[in-house]
Amino acid sequence: MAKKKTSKKIKRKSRSSSGSTTDRRILEEIIRVDHAGEYGAARIYDGQLAVFGKDSKIGKTIQHMAEQELKHIETFEKLIVTNRVRPTALLPLWNIGGFVLGASTALLGKKAAMACTVAVESVIGQHYEQQTKELGDDQAKLRITIKKFQKDELEHHDIGLKHDAEGALGYNLLTKVIAAGCKAAIVISKKI
Ligand SMILES: [Fe+2]
Ligand SMILES: [Fe+2]
Repeated sequence: MAKKKTSKKIKRKSRSSSGSTTDRRILEEIIRVDHAGEYGAARIYDGQLAVFGKDSKIGKTIQHMAEQELKHIETFEKLIVTNRVRPTALLPLWNIGGFVLGASTALLGKKAAMACTVAVESVIGQHYEQQTKELGDDQAKLRITIKKFQKDELEHHDIGLKHDAEGALGYNLLTKVIAAGCKAAIVISKKI
């Protein structure tokens, strides 16, 4: 009886201290959805740049964020290969959907484009926060990568606010709808 108690204690300890391993299914979902999300984010900025042009003042700001997204995509593309993860089958959808979202918010104006950034990056930032908690100690390197990218996403979020995103017409509704769309895309891209 006493022996059983001891082994239970040890088991619990090993789970909470260093050496925890990430469930393979969770690792696959994290890499798949992050790859999809970074791809979608880059396409949003592509759509906005198509409207504003790269040489406009706002275009240069967006270009800075787009370049960071490309680095994020490259990293997840490598992780897809090294970890043998199947990418989402919905990339063609996020390709078009991201671009349309970017272009349509840009057509509404600079503030609406920035409101889109605030909504998207805030969801991604929270999502990355959640993932750092789900990853085990065997994925410490990936956790650091995600933390770094999360910092970039929060910078993008703040750039949006600095550019008067909140002054966009219908800001509350616009950001709510976009955030809900992003959350749905996250749920779908983990699995499909
Ligand atoms: Fe990103
Ligand atoms: Fe971003």
